[in-house]
This record gives sequence, C-alpha cells and structure tokens, in this order.
Amino acid sequence: MDIELSELPSVSLNARQYLPACSAIYMVIDSLNQVLYVGKASNLQIRWQRHHRLEQLNDIDKKMFVRIAWLVCEQNQLDKLEVDFIAKYSPLLNNTPVTKEKEKWKSEMINMTTVISIINLKGGVGKTTTTIQLAECLASEFSKRVLVIDLDPQTNATVALIGEESWEELDQQKQTLFHLFNDKLEGTSFFNIDNAIQPCVSNLKLSYLSLLSSSIKFIDIQDRISEISHKSNYCINPMEVLKTGIHSQLKNYDYVFIDCPPNLGFITINGIEISDYFLIPTIPDTLSTYGIPQVVKTIYNFKKDRNLPIECLGLIMTKYSSNSNAHRRGKNELSARFAKIFQELHIPQSPVFETVIPQANATAEAMEFGANISTFRQKYGRSKCGDRYLYEYVINLANEFIKHVIN
Ligand SMILES: Nc1ncnc2c1ncn2[C@@H]1O[C@H](COP(=O)(O)OP(=O)(O)O)[C@@H](O)[C@H]1O
Ligand SMILES: [Mg+2]
Repeated sequence: MDIELSELPSVSLNARQYLPACSAIYMVIDSLNQVLYVGKASNLQIRWQRHHRLEQLNDIDKKMFVRIAWLVCEQNQLDKLEVDFIAKYSPLLNNTPVTKEKEKWKSEMINMTTVISIINLKGGVGKTTTTIQLAECLASEFSKRVLVIDLDPQTNATVALIGEESWEELDQQKQTLFHLFNDKLEGTSFFNIDNAIQPCVSNLKLSYLSLLSSSIKFIDIQDRISEISHKSNYCINPMEVLKTGIHSQLKNYDYVFIDCPPNLGFITINGIEISDYFLIPTIPDTLSTYGIPQVVKTIYNFKKDRNLPIECLGLIMTKYSSNSNAHRRGKNELSARFAKIFQELHIPQSPVFETVIPQANATAEAMEFGANISTFRQKYGRSKCGDRYLYEYVINLANEFIKHVIN
C-alpha cells in the first residue's frame, strides 16, 4: 500500500485526547518526518490514553515537535498492516527497551497486593458466590487481609457481607462506590475512601475482611461514565476513577476481589484497569460458557491497548450438578474448549481449576447475611456433597487459587 505520510490525518502528541475512537495503524512522527514508532490499535483513542512509549515520546517532543498520524483500517487488517508499515518505515523506537509505567505503579505497593476481577458476561453463574467464598475463606482460614470491591449495581456481594440495612445507611451517607463516580460527574466530593471502606464485615465478623459497597444507583449513571472525561476538562480519565479513588488503600490488603457486573462497560473496565488477574466462574453448560471467548479476547485486547498487567487466572466450574447430563458433558469438554480460546489468541493458556463447586442449597443459603452462624465451617459445611463437606470444596478452591497466583 502506497501512503504519503503528510496526507494522513494527525494530531500533536499533546492533543492525543482528540484522536478518534476507531481501529487504526498509527505512526508517531517527529518534525523531521522521521517515523519514531508504528503500532496498531483496535481503538485509537483508548490506546493513547496511556501508551507505553509516552514518557519517551514526551521527552522527544520537548526537542522536536511530535505528532501522531493514523490510517483507519478494519480490525482484521491490523496485524498485517502493522508488519508492512514497520518493514516500510523502519521506525526508530520499535523493538527498543521501554520502562513500563504500570510496573512502576505496582512496585510502589509495599506488600504486593494482588487484585482479581471476577467476570462473566452471564448473570447467575456464581460470580458473587465465588467472590464471597474466596474472600471469606482467605480471611478466616488463611489469615489474609482481604478487600471485596462490589462493582455490580445488583449489590449482591454488599448485601451478603453487611446486610440490606447497613447498605442503605451507607448509600444515604454517600459512601458507596456509586458516589465515587457520581462525584466526578457532578463536581462534588461526598465520597471519602476512609469512611467508605467497611472493616470487619460478613456475619462471621472477620477482622481481616473489608468491603467497598456498591449501589443500585450505578444503573442510572453506568452509561454516562464516559462524560467524566469532558466534565473534568480531560483531567480525569473515566477508566481510572476507581484506581485514583482507592489506590492509596490497596497496599493494606493481600487480596482484593472485584465482583463485576455481567458486562464489559465502563464500570467493569474500571475494575480491569487495576487488576492483576481476572477469574471466570461458569456453570459447565453451553449457555453459561457461550460468552467466555468474548470476555478473554476483549480483556486481552484491552490489556494490550492500555498496557495493563492483567492476565487470566483461570476458569472455575460452579453450581455443578453430577445428575445433569449437560453438566457432565460440559465439564468433560470445558478444558479443551478453554484451551482453544488461548491458542487462537496466541497467548499463554490459563488453567481450568480442578476444584469444581457443586450445586448445593446450603451454598445458596450461606449467602444470606441474616443466617445465625459464627464459624467458616458452620457457614459453608452444613452438608456433604459426595464424600466431602461443602466447606472443604471452598478451602480446596482457595488453596488452588493461591497456587495459581504464586505460579
Ligand atoms: N454452588 C451453588 N449451589 C447452589 N446455588 C448456588 C451456588 N452458587 C451460587 N448459587 C446461587 O445461584 C444464584 C446466582 O449466584 P450468584 O453468585 O449470585 O451469581 P452471579 O453473581 O454470577 O449473578 C444465587 O441465588 C446463588 O445463591
Ligand atoms: Mg453477582
């Protein structure tokens, strides 16, 4: 393809917020018309909100005016065109070492907190239950300091950990996460992270478990979160509201679990932005597993565009019913289907957890905040499934979880 660089649309490096939200090949060019860098983006605007070469390019920009030119193209042409353009223009910076801003940000965390988003595009597959099980188990049986962040407007994790009454009180006091985002839209500052974090939550009164609550009001603003950008005169990135709001607190925890809504909208993206891992709970039936390739692909694209550390920690089978033919078949086929997703994306494979959480009434009942119990084993192990108490499945899950995080 013959392209005259001067004929391509371009903006100066400083005006990169005005880049269009399209898929494109981009070229960073200096005032001598030397091509500094060539890359591809499935969304040019998002790609340049944080680019791994930004620090370096800003330094060059101080000496010679740097601009970003782009060529709009179809997603499926990106890979090929990127290779062609690199071959044609021999950009000066491609394949040279780079310092990663995100790594710097992580290394500032004294205790290396691990942040995990729990995601699936389907509701009812056990996202919230898995979040609560892992959080309570790690806090009570492994003495880990754990924070649960509830990003789902359905507020199920919040209600499971503090009950409906305390949730309503917190929301009235404007200390649920909705208010963190709403403050940015309205120019107010009601939300205060120190007041919002609820220590010692769950009916087990776990001193190591804390909660940042969600609110049903999220539904009213979830489609307006992108407006935060221009409402703040481009000072606040709508994808980093959560990160800027809570990052001073993260170092206080060993594990932070984010219970995400069943979509990949702006609220979920705020969770992905600060996560080291994402974990996918699924019922092993066709309907529940349908959207998994899309989740993995979208998050890995996002990871690349935004230069994020996030990786897939694995897939957890939930609500497994050994009586169901569909579940048995699904369970047998799941590992191969999951592996194929990673092969097709040319990324390292993530595991399917060996621990399979069985369908059991007692597990659903354990999510009731009002239940009168005092120990973890009482809460999760009131009945047996096969030859094991239900709490043993949760402990096995937590053990496996730690093993995968460490590896
Ligand atoms: N292992 C299980 N056995 C029985 N019921 C379960 C189990 N896991 C979750 N449930 C129930 O299934 C419903 C959906 O689970 P939930 O964790 O809220 O899913 P999600 O967060 O994905 O929407 C809830 O009523 C929950 O109590
Ligand atoms: Mg849920």
